[in-house]
Amino acid sequence: MALFDDAYTADPHPVLARLRGSGPVHRVRSAAGIPFWLVTRWDEARQVLTDASLSKRQPVDQLPAPLRAALATQMLLRDPPDHTRLRRLVSAAFTGRRVQALEPEIVRITDRLLDGLATEAEPDLIGRFAVPLPFAVICELLGVPEEDRGPFRAWSDVIITGGSGPAGMAEAMAEIVAYFRDLIARKAARPAEDLLSALLDVLDDGDDLVGMALLLLVAGHETTANLIGNAVYLLSRWPDQRDRLRDDPDLLPALVEEVLRLASPAATSTYRVTTRPTTIGATTIPAGEQVLVSLLAVNRDPERFAAADTLDLERGDAGHLAFGHGVHFCLGAPLARLEARVALGRLLGRFPDLRPAVPAEDLRWRSGLLMHGLEALPVRLTGATGP
Ligand code: HEM
Repeated sequence: MALFDDAYTADPHPVLARLRGSGPVHRVRSAAGIPFWLVTRWDEARQVLTDASLSKRQPVDQLPAPLRAALATQMLLRDPPDHTRLRRLVSAAFTGRRVQALEPEIVRITDRLLDGLATEAEPDLIGRFAVPLPFAVICELLGVPEEDRGPFRAWSDVIITGGSGPAGMAEAMAEIVAYFRDLIARKAARPAEDLLSALLDVLDDGDDLVGMALLLLVAGHETTANLIGNAVYLLSRWPDQRDRLRDDPDLLPALVEEVLRLASPAATSTYRVTTRPTTIGATTIPAGEQVLVSLLAVNRDPERFAAADTLDLERGDAGHLAFGHGVHFCLGAPLARLEARVALGRLLGRFPDLRPAVPAEDLRWRSGLLMHGLEALPVRLTGATGP
């Protein structure tokens, strides 16, 4: 079956719930007609994400030459022991201390964006807040200078939204790869207190570095934006939980975990390929087939979570797989959590009456298999009456 048609903009959860109800593994097709296997239950997802016989290596030979080297070396597309070596090196630079040190800057960026929101009658929370915030944070983390951020933002928008078609995408990728090469050369000449400079100390190969910078940009941008937008959406659907949070702001970390579970910002894992026949549940998948875990489906598995479709700030169970599981567990999870806490804490603190300016039926989810977030979320910041 085709999982979603090209133009779907509805919440994908009902389709995924039906699939999950009928079994843990399904042979499906993407909107482009490409067949793959989709895992929809929590136990089987953990099996797939930890099975070393499933490979992350993907063919990149069809890509234009300048991109091939950079993409082929991305950590997310490598298997142990190669992945282990790279991950260890990168973890030595992308430390908890470095993430914590970003907090004052995240607060500053957030407050500046909130000042901008306050000037508009019905701002789009996604375009004006949830998307620019992680972008600015990644620039800060990597050390992209202020004056370069305009073009950098334009290329990264093309890469992340894929909106300009394959040719536009290839062009933007080539631009950004060239930009990173130049930036890395500048950092090598004059090291600064940023992650790229720190990575230069541990990764001596230019392709590794460009691949890592690209991965951080792509992996940490739309995902974090979705987390922030989905949180505001879910709170509007569960006003009792919104009241609980207002009474007890210490529940903010619990909110972030529940949003990750209930509206997982990365809708799926990335692809894995079977290297030998692999039995999942009652299904044996032949060698050489693509497998995806539906994080949206497994994080609402009723066998794993009681009242799985409900936002519950008192759940006290962070067993979701929204950041993946096993050796490829999200490297940026501490940063994503910090950003979401700062963003939501300051947003709701400053605009306690914030609510969507349109009825829920009018909201559109972005199409595409891999991400789960709203296209736009117009909001009212003050006043008591809503739609
Ligand atoms: C890997 C989700 C934010 C960097 C992953 C994976 C998931 C994920 C599910 C594993 C994919 C798989 O195994 O197929 C998310 C979500 C985020 C988020 C939901 C925000 C809410 C970030 C941020 C960064 C980041 C902010 C860095 C700036 C990475 C990297 C990997 C990764 C480098 C690859 C790790 C590896 O291969 O060892 N992420 N991510 N992510 N993420 Fe995130």
